[in-house]
Amino acid sequence: MVTGSAVGSPESLPLSIVALCMEYAYNTESDTPRYFRNILQTPLAVEESFRVFLNEWRDDESRHAGILRNLLDSSIFRGVVVPDPPERRSPTWVTRLTPYLYRITWVMPRYFCAIILAAATVNELSAFLGYARLARHVDDPALRSALGQIAGDERRHAERFAAFARKRLDGYPSVARFVKWCFRALWAPVGSKANEGAAFASVAAILFGVVGPTDRDDRLDELSTRLLGFEIEPSTIAAKRIARVIRR
Ligand SMILES: [Fe+2]
Ligand SMILES: [Fe+2]
Repeated sequence: MVTGSAVGSPESLPLSIVALCMEYAYNTESDTPRYFRNILQTPLAVEESFRVFLNEWRDDESRHAGILRNLLDSSIFRGVVVPDPPERRSPTWVTRLTPYLYRITWVMPRYFCAIILAAATVNELSAFLGYARLARHVDDPALRSALGQIAGDERRHAERFAAFARKRLDGYPSVARFVKWCFRALWAPVGSKANEGAAFASVAAILFGVVGPTDRDDRLDELSTRLLGFEIEPSTIAAKRIARVIRR
């Protein structure tokens, strides 16, 4: 059951739901070092400009985790009960294998680096839209401003990852076809590894605009198409994955 502060306006989310979304985001941001280490196993680590960006990116995400933690522990959320906080399970065999899977990238570097960079682009865009959606539906000005600033960083990250992706994609239709296939078969919404169970489904559904405020934002597909140069329909894939978790 959802408890917490009263809804300030028809368009604002209850603070308990905002807190749950922020816990999800905090877990996602805190998972960055694992992702960072995995990417450093790939040929991308050889590219100096990418390495510089990746270090800046890791610092940004860890700063975001700190901001979210401070906000969640601040007086804004005093007395707010967070329903069903996201739980962390022990790593599955797939998670344990992941660092080794990243080394496959050396076999077909253009293909595998393209999928890593395209996935990162879509994940950052999802984060951007999720934070922007939260920011639009909170009443507290300090909270709205902090979420809006994080959203701006995520959008910038998406553009940077996309620029590195386009170097592998433009002029290589077979690489684009491979990326599209990987998305349909393997991609999961950002944060789903760091947040499992019922909390994942309920929060992801709000952050990805499947349920919640009526300004449902479908621009994820449009933005990812614009940045990557071809259509991969991540919103549709995310909605299907979330629906599957909810049905479980
Ligand atoms: Fe972030
Ligand atoms: Fe980011």
